[in-house]
Amino acid sequence: MSFPLPPLTQIPPDVVALADYEPLARHHLGENAWAYFSGGAADEITLRDNRSAFDTLKLVPRVLRDLKGGHMRVELFGRSFDHPILLAPIAYHRLAHPDGELATVLGASAMKAGMVVSTRATVPLEDIAAAAETALWFQLYMQPDRGFTQELVRRAENAGYQALVLTVDAPLTGIRNRQQRAQFRMPDGIEAVNLRGMRQPDLRPRMAGENVAFGSLLDDAPTWDDLDWLLSFTRLPVLLKGILSPDDAHHAIQRGCAGVIVSNHGGRILDTMPATIDVLPQIVEAVAGRVPVLLDGGIRRGTDVLKAIALGASAVLVGRPCLFGLSVAGAIGVAHVLNILRAELEVAMGLTGCATLAQIQPSILWRR
Ligand code: FNR
Ligand code: LAC
Repeated sequence: MSFPLPPLTQIPPDVVALADYEPLARHHLGENAWAYFSGGAADEITLRDNRSAFDTLKLVPRVLRDLKGGHMRVELFGRSFDHPILLAPIAYHRLAHPDGELATVLGASAMKAGMVVSTRATVPLEDIAAAAETALWFQLYMQPDRGFTQELVRRAENAGYQALVLTVDAPLTGIRNRQQRAQFRMPDGIEAVNLRGMRQPDLRPRMAGENVAFGSLLDDAPTWDDLDWLLSFTRLPVLLKGILSPDDAHHAIQRGCAGVIVSNHGGRILDTMPATIDVLPQIVEAVAGRVPVLLDGGIRRGTDVLKAIALGASAVLVGRPCLFGLSVAGAIGVAHVLNILRAELEVAMGLTGCATLAQIQPSILWRR
């Protein structure tokens, strides 16, 4: 496996915002991996909306407030986090950097950012945990082989992961035209190592002319009963990721979920789903303070984090920018991306008169 360019050991001085990483990442990743990491589904309308929806929200500065003793700590599931910015689960980090998730977790640890490790990580989940000096959550894709799934959960529990994030929005891969146009292929040697030895689903249509998805893939897709099953044996808090419907949020909590993540999978699954920040208020209303609500999708500025918290999120997850930082400069790049966001959030809090996350209220959003 060769990389188009080796990771930099120093960040160029003109890289000062998350967007500055994108052209460099494209260069370092090459067109194949760039298509995988940067792309969304179909026309990428949701992918673009995730960002533009943040940009249309405007902020009201507040002046002369007492900001002494300010901090951005947040408590989630009985643990304190220094700030509310976590790394979203992303598959195949070794496609971006030779050390893969081991480099990512070093960067996350340097910034004390919680990291959600994908089921499709390219490093054994135990090795990532051994290298971590920060809170780790394990993202679970329910596997067709439920015995294997249970074993995966046990491994995550034993390795010290502190929560499970069950991703429920991707029973199928979206229609990824950008990947198709780039003729994306996974390079040899890049593999979801934690799934080794698992029975693979039979993807052949069962009858001539039958649709592949309905013919087999969706037969194995998890249901609410599978969530009950997971909750029955794990001792970890379970968050559902990929919630855009208030009813689904309500069901999740009634069944015992400890949190929900408002996400459209970074616009990669079903195009024309709404932007996550637009949906957040409805989910927050349905959840009514019973469990924490997190959000991901399009977070690129500290002001985006501020807006999500103002609309009721407890914390946010950041996806692609961390991978772009990883591809450009390994652990240093990941840490730098997180540091930029954290510093921007701090400035945004100060200028809207918020000394703590609890003080970030909907009133900081300007209404025409
Ligand atoms: C993802 N995402 C994802 N989610 C998940 O639950 N498990 C996974 O393995 C992956 N893999 C993955 C790969 C790539 C390349 C991307 C871009 C995304 C979705 C991810 O967790 C998150 O929801 C979005 O990436 C958030 O949007 P932004 O921050 O990338 O805009
Ligand atoms: C993706 C899957 C792995 O978005 O979640 O590529």
